[in-house]
Amino acid sequence: MILSFLLFILIVIIMEFNITNVRRIFLDFFKNNGHKIFSCGSLISSENTSLLFTNAGMNQFKDYYLGYKKSNFSRIVTSQHCLRVGGKHNDFEKIGYTNFHNTFFEMLGNFSFDDYFKKEAIFYAWELLTGTNNFNLPKDRLLVTVHYQDYESYKIWSEDICIKSDRIIVIGNNENNGCFSDNFWQMDNIGPCGPCTEIFYDNSTNPSDKITDSNIIYSERFIEIWNIVFIQFNRDINGSLIPLKIPLVDTGMGLERIVSVLQNVYSVYEIDLFNNMIVFIADLIKCNDLINTSFRVISDHIRSCIFIIQDGILPSNEKHGYILRKLIRRSIIHGYMLGVRHSFLYKLVNYFVHCLKLNNYLIKLDVNSISSIIKSEEDHFSRTLQKGFLLLNKKLINLKTNVLDGKTLFELYDTYGFPIYLTKEICLKNNILINFVEYEDCMSKQRKRSRMHNDDTVKLKFSDLILSNYSSVFNGYVNFEITSKILLILKSNKMVKDIFIGQMSVIVLDETSFFFESSGQISDIGILKNDNGIFRVDKVKKYGNIIFHIGVLISGHLSLFDVVCSSIDRIHRKCIEINHSSTHLLHSALRTVLGEHVVQKGSFINHKYFRFDFFHKKSLTTDELSLVENIVNNYIRDNVSISTTYMNLNDIKLNNIIFLFNEKYQQEFMRVVKIGDISSEVCLGTHVKRTGDIGLLKLISDKGVSLGVRRIESITGRYAISYIQSLHSKINLFSKLLNSSFDNLENNLISTIKNLNLLKKFSEKSKKDDLDKNVIFLKKNIEVFKGVNFLFNYLLNLDINNLYKIMCVLIKTLNKIIIFLFTNIKDDYFFIFYISENLDYLFDKKDLINFLSDKVNCKIYFNSNIGNFRIKNNYFTDEFVNEIKHWIFDKL
Ligand code: ALA
Repeated sequence: MILSFLLFILIVIIMEFNITNVRRIFLDFFKNNGHKIFSCGSLISSENTSLLFTNAGMNQFKDYYLGYKKSNFSRIVTSQHCLRVGGKHNDFEKIGYTNFHNTFFEMLGNFSFDDYFKKEAIFYAWELLTGTNNFNLPKDRLLVTVHYQDYESYKIWSEDICIKSDRIIVIGNNENNGCFSDNFWQMDNIGPCGPCTEIFYDNSTNPSDKITDSNIIYSERFIEIWNIVFIQFNRDINGSLIPLKIPLVDTGMGLERIVSVLQNVYSVYEIDLFNNMIVFIADLIKCNDLINTSFRVISDHIRSCIFIIQDGILPSNEKHGYILRKLIRRSIIHGYMLGVRHSFLYKLVNYFVHCLKLNNYLIKLDVNSISSIIKSEEDHFSRTLQKGFLLLNKKLINLKTNVLDGKTLFELYDTYGFPIYLTKEICLKNNILINFVEYEDCMSKQRKRSRMHNDDTVKLKFSDLILSNYSSVFNGYVNFEITSKILLILKSNKMVKDIFIGQMSVIVLDETSFFFESSGQISDIGILKNDNGIFRVDKVKKYGNIIFHIGVLISGHLSLFDVVCSSIDRIHRKCIEINHSSTHLLHSALRTVLGEHVVQKGSFINHKYFRFDFFHKKSLTTDELSLVENIVNNYIRDNVSISTTYMNLNDIKLNNIIFLFNEKYQQEFMRVVKIGDISSEVCLGTHVKRTGDIGLLKLISDKGVSLGVRRIESITGRYAISYIQSLHSKINLFSKLLNSSFDNLENNLISTIKNLNLLKKFSEKSKKDDLDKNVIFLKKNIEVFKGVNFLFNYLLNLDINNLYKIMCVLIKTLNKIIIFLFTNIKDDYFFIFYISENLDYLFDKKDLINFLSDKVNCKIYFNSNIGNFRIKNNYFTDEFVNEIKHWIFDKL
């Protein structure tokens, strides 16, 4: 009875404080305190940070913090998907060994921009955590840390919140520098940063125990649940801290962690979500050792993989793809450690996605696509794993000390692709050390070798100073010529005041009509000009808020602060627009023909053609391709108008508007391109006004580019027309050549090919007959002289190949032979000759070669028994032939 009651209470607690509810309580609390709820930013980090994946809630607001952009809201709250698997915040190797780390997690955060600061931030956190209508956590279980130079926060905690002094831990510095303190938070090695105060939950059975050593808070007795950062600096590329002008707050609370505290379990892996996933894995692989940490690794990693894959990443050897590969591979290894010897991870996806959806996670990509990507990586890596394990086991068995040599570590990694952490992990489990010095040595030799092969690619490098001091506005959706001021000129990455004719450089304007490379689209080209000079723009790129015009000065000179007219090449732009609008039509047509699972994976659009990558497993049939092409061309003929609007993410989701998950949607409002009822997509690119402007679309190829991803290439407008014209003129030519009407061309072609095949057969047969006849004829001419078969014959108009063929037949069928065959080729005579090996006793072949060389003015080729030479007509006389014969007869 009591047990059922306790169980009931437990279920009620879990229901109340599950992920969905805790997330909602957090967002509502801050909404009620004047915060605007912002959608979760992309998991894939935006281009203007050095991060691969979003590692904190504040990432999407980086530019607000640095003052590059101004937020429309001074108070914002979010629940942000984060991944900490590399760079400054890397928890990859902790997974499986700690109770409270995940690679993928959701960070709850409130942010203030030039609004409240320390006091309010601390008060809000305390109220949410301890308020009876909120999380209602016991106050005596909470403990806080403050940065040793942040007396203000210390006072707030002790005097306003009234926390006892032994529960406020002052954290010093690690390297005699306040910025290296554990209470100084940085997004990355460069960027926004500042001191922080952290709130910990005490899991001890006796929380009144005194804390004598401040390091104890880093033990697992205490769980860090909330970090409140006071962003006060920008760390620049040189490591200097540049003070920011306004007070900024950035906070972060791990959703899974706070749920574990609220569900009263001592690990994020014991909250209902993970518990269910782990039980499922155990059932699937028939292993009930549920406390084995490998279950944690697998559940954590596969959850991360689902989110990464749905953001359009595939396993690969670089960047995001490499991280995905690492997560899948480490999960495979942990499966191996649990005794699994077959692919199984892909079977988890369906259930995991189901659990995630129950917790209100948006998973748009279909389960089959995700699981087939995981399966193919699993199948491939299993083979590597087997080989690596065999080698490592052999080494470990034969080890005489408890140290593994660095060479083996390197060989496993370099030759077998066996990950370093795996060797480390296995050695750790077996209490074996690794000689890392030796490993580093091998590694640095390897690096040197590969450096020698790498080109030193020249890249544009801009210091943070430039990025923070300039900004340019793109105003070229409808304006193709704009009067602009030159803000910056860079030559060989250095700022200069003037440029002169012929100089390659980079120009930054305050305002521009040039569209920069983005949205899969190449940039505009054109000119910047004034009365003094003309700069040809070949390429335009955007970094941070600055648009860089890259090109060369083709006349006169230009100077800093000159006013110029920025004028794009309109025909070039129009061709790009035609292709860009066509990708949207194609996307829609593909979804109509193949199904809703077709999601854009990427695109490349230039003025001549475009390619469009999308998720779909099979190649398209000819009928499907024709149907897609017809649908797009119908859309074009309908001449539908194309418009753009700006919408917020909620409306975008409500209206089912297509947006790529890795779209950079940090802005409050995003640009939506709408083509009648045909398509609505979030897109920054440039588009035509009506579909009729496209004129025509012609698909030119469909191929697979990676597992589950296909690529269609297509041309449009005048390029499609000239493609069709050239096909047409080729067909006309074929008709003429075949003397056929256009309508009969196919039949005529088929019968011509049939006839040609017959002729070919016939001619091969007759060649064979000729050859046989020649051999019979030659055999009759053989003279036998002292037991040696001697043949010296001329064959009229034979090609060299056939001469060789005849020689081969003769060699095979006769013994003890000396043969000279020759034929006329154009104005020359070509000789081939053969002397059987068993006639070596008669004369030295070298003497014959010397004799021939003296007679003819050409090179004699000779290889063991067979030789050839080609002589000019005027050297060829009957006498020459007789002399050869006599030379040989004399030796017999
Ligand atoms: N940005 C802070 C963190 O990630 C809140 O801990």
